Amino acid sequence: MVNKGIILAGGTGKRLFPITKSINKHILPIGDKPMIYYPLSILMLAKIKNIEIITNPNEERAFKSVLGPTQDLGIKISYNFQKKPNGIGEVFKVSKKFINNSAFCLILGDNFFYGQALSDYLSNIRKFKKGSLIFTYPVKNIEQFGILEENGLKKRILEKPKKSASNKAVTGLYVFDKKAKNFAKSIKKSIRNELEIVDILNKYSKSKLLKSVDLGRGASWFDMGTFDDLYNVNSLVSLLEKRQRFKIACLEEIALKNNWIDSSNIKKRIKFYGRGNLTDYLKELI
Ligand code: DAU
Repeated sequence: MVNKGIILAGGTGKRLFPITKSINKHILPIGDKPMIYYPLSILMLAKIKNIEIITNPNEERAFKSVLGPTQDLGIKISYNFQKKPNGIGEVFKVSKKFINNSAFCLILGDNFFYGQALSDYLSNIRKFKKGSLIFTYPVKNIEQFGILEENGLKKRILEKPKKSASNKAVTGLYVFDKKAKNFAKSIKKSIRNELEIVDILNKYSKSKLLKSVDLGRGASWFDMGTFDDLYNVNSLVSLLEKRQRFKIACLEEIALKNNWIDSSNIKKRIKFYGRGNLTDYLKELI
């Protein structure tokens, strides 16, 4: 059973300088919410309540401020710190205590997922038992992502290849069983001086323990690490929320649907938000 989730929300946000020189990327606004709400909503949709946010030393205050009283969301959030952005593969070392001997779900803090097809995939995460599970999405710009190549049953992931016959980007949502920590111990830093998550995934693949699911047309996926995509996702969220009655990544709504909270918690969240879009929306929920 997968009960634990980690959100990786550190790094330098280099591609968004100078903005991210003064603010952690994952606090930036996407629609009417901070970026961190979106990956958090994905873990909550997967019914994961026990969550660790990894960020840079001394940056947790900003997250606590924008997330408010998370007990009123029915979840438990702890914070942990990565001293330097040594790569996504360092998560296993940084979160050793939190992971302990359990399977867990990892989501990159700048990843945005949306779509009808998603709920089914997410509801299966908790039941995942053996190996590692990744989700792929077809892209044009393969040189910006980890790319999954498949040859029969054989799978291999290349980090940001210049060329590949495949266009399947590995999204920033991963599930690992307890073997991950052993695989993680044996990886070395790459040429770009990072501990690469794809090296761990390739170890799973060599042991025939890597499962991949194509998200396909029923879902949308973006990595919000560049100005272009930050604006693209902003426009998408604003457009969808104006057009439809539903909000994307409304944490309270998900918690309510999961039966984790009741109207008294929503009232507390309304107090926290004060006047604004989210309050107006929440008032309609209770
Ligand atoms: O978004 C999916 C892609 O994410 C995958 O296809 C790639 O295989 C994977 O390597 C990663 O590539 P990026 O170049 O987009 O990773 P980036 O350095 O932007 O980091 C992703 C998130 O993780 C970002 O929100 C910052 C955080 N991070 C990153 C590193 C390297 C950390 O918290 N610590 C780190 O050391």
